[in-house]
Amino acid sequence: MSKYYEKIKLCLQQIKDRTDFAPDIALVLGSGLGDFAENIEVAAVIPYSEIEGFPVSTAPGHAGRFILGTISGKRVIAMQGRVHYYEGYEIQDVVMPIRLMRLMGASKLILTNAAGGISEESYPGSFMLINDHICLVPSPLIGENLSIIGTRFPSMDNIYDRDLRKIVLSSAESVGVKLFEGVYLQTSGPQYETPAEIRMFKNHGAGAVGMSTAVEAIAAVHAGFDVIGISCISNMACGLSDTPPSEAEVLEIASKAGADFSKLLKAIISNI
Ligand code: HPA
Repeated sequence: MSKYYEKIKLCLQQIKDRTDFAPDIALVLGSGLGDFAENIEVAAVIPYSEIEGFPVSTAPGHAGRFILGTISGKRVIAMQGRVHYYEGYEIQDVVMPIRLMRLMGASKLILTNAAGGISEESYPGSFMLINDHICLVPSPLIGENLSIIGTRFPSMDNIYDRDLRKIVLSSAESVGVKLFEGVYLQTSGPQYETPAEIRMFKNHGAGAVGMSTAVEAIAAVHAGFDVIGISCISNMACGLSDTPPSEAEVLEIASKAGADFSKLLKAIISNI
């Protein structure tokens, strides 16, 4: 068995030593969106730094811990903060937490992020339901295939699950939160894009740009998760507004959108 799989199993064992809570829904809370975890009736909190072998996030706006518990009676595990490729981790390590949550028993995954808006429907504080993606960073599936987790050549045809997307749209309508649909494009970061890059991405159909979610969705589908992706548009992408993107704006707008984001996510969780 590969060293990598041994490492995942070691992390899994350390979590199991602390809690026997078995989640059904996994949740990754993006930059500035971590406060949603306050909605969880907490069964256990595990900081990443207390799990030997776990990649620890250094990004701002990311608390860096698992919160396990229930929301509307649904059993969830939330990642308050994620790791990014730009932090210098191997791409396989970036997606290790996703695989871990699948091995813990979760079968549905909700990925959230703060992203730069490219779509004409976007504005800071709006939400995009991801219906497909363009991944401009290396595949997290490169290297030995962990056949115990998934197949060598998984299809990405239904990467953001069609049936779950319908539920997200009806949930959004029921709580009066506006959502548009679009394609998420992932760059490596950490630099924001140039205006020329954004023009190119727009011409290729991207609706929002960010630095996290596509690789997680790939690893998740490989591992058998049904995936939902939601971007909180924290700023207009570079060249599309008078002010260039900044970390302060990303965190401020994402946390201001927190009330709508919470309403939306709670409705989705109770309906899936
Ligand atoms: N570009 C890339 N990633 C981002 C952005 C952006 O404009 N905003 C938030 N994350």
